[in-house]
Amino acid sequence: MLRGPRGLFWLCFPLLPLLLAGASGQLGADRPGAGAEEAGSGRAWPGIQGLRERLREATALSRRYLSLFSCRVWPGECKEDEAASEQSQGWSLPLLGQQYLDILTTWYCTFQDCCDHGDCRISNNFSGLEADLKERLHGQHLAGELVLKTVRGYLDLPRPDKALVLSFHGWSGTGKNFVARMLAENLYRDGLSSDCVQVFIATLHFPHPKYVDLYKEKLTDQIRKTQEYCRQTLFIFDEAEKLHPGLLETLRPYLEHQDPKAHRAKSPRTIFLFLSNLGGKVINEMVLNLLKAGWSREKITAEHLEPHLQNEIMESTDSGFGHSSIVKENLIDFFIPFLPLEYRHVRLCARDAFLSEELLYTEEALDEIAKMMIYVPKEEQLFSSQGCKSISQRINYFLP
Ligand SMILES: *[C@@H]1O[C@H](CO)[C@@H](O)[C@H](O)[C@H]1NC(C)=O
Repeated sequence: MLRGPRGLFWLCFPLLPLLLAGASGQLGADRPGAGAEEAGSGRAWPGIQGLRERLREATALSRRYLSLFSCRVWPGECKEDEAASEQSQGWSLPLLGQQYLDILTTWYCTFQDCCDHGDCRISNNFSGLEADLKERLHGQHLAGELVLKTVRGYLDLPRPDKALVLSFHGWSGTGKNFVARMLAENLYRDGLSSDCVQVFIATLHFPHPKYVDLYKEKLTDQIRKTQEYCRQTLFIFDEAEKLHPGLLETLRPYLEHQDPKAHRAKSPRTIFLFLSNLGGKVINEMVLNLLKAGWSREKITAEHLEPHLQNEIMESTDSGFGHSSIVKENLIDFFIPFLPLEYRHVRLCARDAFLSEELLYTEEALDEIAKMMIYVPKEEQLFSSQGCKSISQRINYFLP
């Protein structure tokens, strides 16, 4: 079956020799430096015999083009000798040949997603994302629903005039990073290593306040370059509560509404994710109160939490995030709460850890692992203080 533009390309491939035959004809006629003999013999080729000759040459050439071309746009599937041949011989292709290769690549890339390095392929697999959020993310019915709905809705817009900005809030180990990774993996074929996905960790990428001006420059440069490469980009800011206010300010123009007239043809879709533990405490208190009042966890809605969460974030004094213009000017589209995890969720994380290592487990082992976590508050002992953090290391104790 023909699947997508790539199928179209293979379908068109037999036409390539004709295209290139035309090109090499032009090459002979137009290139001033071409020897008189060569040009003369080109013109002298009689009728069908000559055409056959040229087609044969062009077919041989086009095979090489095809392998160079596929190395460019699908480097993952490119055999090593082909990659090496592009590097060693690519530059020695006739100038016009290089140009045709460029034109072909550009033409292909207008409807397929690729960039200089070839790993900008966008997959937008919403059924995969939905399945991941349902099956691998535990205890986060709100975050799961909100992320799927907002991201799918945004990416389906024909011409969004703004970036989608989501802010994930909750205690550590509740799945914020996990969901960010699921997004990268389902929206891009190369997941987090895609050139269209950039991850910034505040304490790792921007550790020293005195260098904030340098960081600003690097950050804007990186955002701009990524947007030039890819028509759909994902920027993830981990530890957002630790981002310098100056950096948050630098981000503002990228989050604001864009003038539709100034819309660049490229990269109209951008998703920003801010991950932080801000508001974790108020989320936990709200959930605890609702559970104690007899609510079932799954009946808790975003309306229960969001107003409190937003207040808490804006009033937090120990972080610049709540006071930044991106929060104050409502540039964040959704505040997404991650609920504190209970014993049964930790058990499920342990089960997944065994399954992902393809190991057998017993129900007792799952209980043992879940019991290793500390549960708070002291009285109720309801929520795992570390969520599902480092569960995958803990299964090591139970290996045969
Ligand atoms: C989408 O993701 C699902 C689950 O990971 C996978 O089975 C399916 O093949 C993916 N679809 C595409 C088109 O990549």
